[in-house]
Amino acid sequence: MEKKIYNEIDWRIRIFDSLSFPTLILKPDQVVLTANTIFLEKFNTELDQVIGKTCFEVFYHDKCPHKNCPFIKVLEQKKGQSIIRRVTTLTGKHLWEDRFFSPILDDNGDVAYIIESVRDITRMKNLEIALRETEAFLEKAISGSPIAIVAADRYGNILLMNPVAEKLFGYSFNEAARTLEVKQLYPDGIAVAIMEKLRNKKYGGPGKLSATRTTILNAEDKEIPVEINASLLYEDGEEVASIGIYTDLRDKIAAEKKLKETQNQIVQSEKMASLGKLAAGVAHEINNPLTGILLYANLIRENIEENHPQLKNLQYVLEDTERCRDIVKNLLAYSRQTTPTREICPINTLIEKSLSLIRDQKLFLKINVVKKLSEEKLPVHVDKNQISQVIINLIINAADAIDKQGTITLRTYLDKNTQMICLEVEDSGSGIKKENAARIFDPFFTTKDHGKGTGLGLSIAYGIVKENSGNISIKKTDPHGTIFLLELPTVNLRSEDLIY
Ligand SMILES: Nc1ncnc2c1ncn2[C@@H]1O[C@H](COP(=O)(O)OP(=O)(O)O)[C@@H](O)[C@H]1O
Ligand SMILES: [Mg+2]
Repeated sequence: MEKKIYNEIDWRIRIFDSLSFPTLILKPDQVVLTANTIFLEKFNTELDQVIGKTCFEVFYHDKCPHKNCPFIKVLEQKKGQSIIRRVTTLTGKHLWEDRFFSPILDDNGDVAYIIESVRDITRMKNLEIALRETEAFLEKAISGSPIAIVAADRYGNILLMNPVAEKLFGYSFNEAARTLEVKQLYPDGIAVAIMEKLRNKKYGGPGKLSATRTTILNAEDKEIPVEINASLLYEDGEEVASIGIYTDLRDKIAAEKKLKETQNQIVQSEKMASLGKLAAGVAHEINNPLTGILLYANLIRENIEENHPQLKNLQYVLEDTERCRDIVKNLLAYSRQTTPTREICPINTLIEKSLSLIRDQKLFLKINVVKKLSEEKLPVHVDKNQISQVIINLIINAADAIDKQGTITLRTYLDKNTQMICLEVEDSGSGIKKENAARIFDPFFTTKDHGKGTGLGLSIAYGIVKENSGNISIKKTDPHGTIFLLELPTVNLRSEDLIY
């Protein structure tokens, strides 16, 4: 009987033998009718070892371990079925197989045989697993990256935004992907400029843009300085996407600014130190002849008649000589290299004392002085006379800056961040021009009319403040006024210890 069937399908067997996959022909009761040559080779067996056995006996020597074997389904549905499964061979090897079951129907349309072919897809499956692992790894690397990464397709749709980028730009990835085009992450025109650079050989490309400073726009419409590295992704020579890697430069720029300020301060201190030495020498030299000039000019003044035609000129000589004497006195005071005698004193007391010295001057008739002084004592540890001089200088400068009517506001507080005690001298004057701002602490720099300013006030103030471990700076200036900020070190004392 079996022999007869074998003969019947002899020609099929030949075709079947030439199939390149190991293949079995099974009867509906799962008994093997035959196997092709490649099957015997692959499973290292002989035809008479497989014929007459069930398929699971052939593969597993035992019961079928697979609950969801499609064999039954093929019988029921009379349609081909396949299953991918991980198997362990009799020799202990782990393989991935794609098994395909296809029915051969008889004249009644019932399943007469089932062809089971086995394809070893281990290599493909392993590649797939490796790819999935690589993808998962990349995903982790991108989302865990400390730098901001954004990718967009060539139409500007956002494809990727890692958590650091979400924070930098202020959008969640989903929100950005749904509502934005990549160019909206930049101020007007910047995205186009970046794309142009990306396509230009000059900037490291084409297709690459390395370490370029630019500006992005966050969700609050705030411009943020960043360094961008970008590249274009190609598929078959065509641009398909772009990737941008961003480093937030705000901290770096703040640090650079701080460094520049420190450098400027060093330059200023050096200038002041050399001026001090120079001034001491020059002032000594000039002091004696000046005393002589004053003496003789006064003698002439006493001896000429009140209506002498040259009296007015002589008056000018005297006035200017007196001015020279004042300058020299200032220079000498400044250049005297004495260590300040520091005392602890509330800053408000120093302000009141300074104000009482100048309040009655003509200059202050047009000025309303507003005091916004802290309720707290705010003790500073400074040379009181020196700091008074600084405060007076600042107030007189403020008054000078006010043309007609105006206000000077004095504000004191403790800056919790720096732990410095601050005095702000604010005026409603005409402000300091940008080109002058860097020079106002320079000795002899003045914008005031001849005879009005010496240009020494702020440079002396600068020297004094540094000697007292403080800072002096312009906090704000514009055509509506200026705020000078004086910062002085505080002391941690109980208020009973204060000296008034
Ligand atoms: N509050 C202020 N508003 C506008 N300009 C100011 C102010 N304080 C100082 N300046 C500018 O700084 C310059 C230098 O000031 P300073 O050293 O005190 O010298 P002086 O007062 O003799 O000119 C002034 O001539 C003025 O141009
Ligand atoms: Mg001045």
